[in-house]
Amino acid sequence: MKFFLDTANLDEIKKGYKMGILSGVTTNPSLVVKEGVKFEDRIAEICQAVPDVESVSAEVTPIALTAEDMIAEANELIKINGGDKKVTIKLPMTVAGLEACRYLTKKGVRTNITLIFTVNQALLAARAGATYVSPFLGRLDDISEDGVLLVEKIAAVFRTHNLDTQIIAASVRHADHVTRVAMAGAHIATMPLKVVEQLTKHPLTDQGMEKFSTDWEKVVSK
Ligand code: G3P
Repeated sequence: MKFFLDTANLDEIKKGYKMGILSGVTTNPSLVVKEGVKFEDRIAEICQAVPDVESVSAEVTPIALTAEDMIAEANELIKINGGDKKVTIKLPMTVAGLEACRYLTKKGVRTNITLIFTVNQALLAARAGATYVSPFLGRLDDISEDGVLLVEKIAAVFRTHNLDTQIIAASVRHADHVTRVAMAGAHIATMPLKVVEQLTKHPLTDQGMEKFSTDWEKVVSK
């Protein structure tokens, strides 16, 4: 399973990239608004900060309701950073989103269908040619449903029908989500930097480091 960062914060993206584990970045309107910057400029800055990742998702705006509106916005987004091929058009899971997805896929543009909450939605998105589907597991957990189970079911259906659309487990909130979606067959998990940082930690690692350090002091002080 690959790691994407789910943020529009440039410092966090640079930190994650430096760690050497990053394969992509996802953003959404809420994440970009938090940064208080112009959307297109921030996507360009992100592309430049992570030159060799596979994907940087840029979402069409919530006011683009028809496929035509979405395609018009996508046509501008794909020009960012000199037509950077990793710019991936994130589209909502609506009939218009599917229509736009099919059109953009035919043009060779990467797409990510977002706000997926059922297997059927994921299947439709895959059939529309989506490069990625983004099931939001944390938001399902929030309403007492099982988000990881959804990822597991989508992975099983995609395997059964030989669909090469990649599953991005999104709305990942904590370390246990990460382990469980990896086991469930997600190709990618996208998460905030603070979750990636949690993954690096274990109290026994800290204790082990402490012990090595104290023992080493004894050798050095001889
Ligand atoms: O990738 C989806 C993410 O941005 C939503 O996460 O925590 O707002 O449900 P959350």
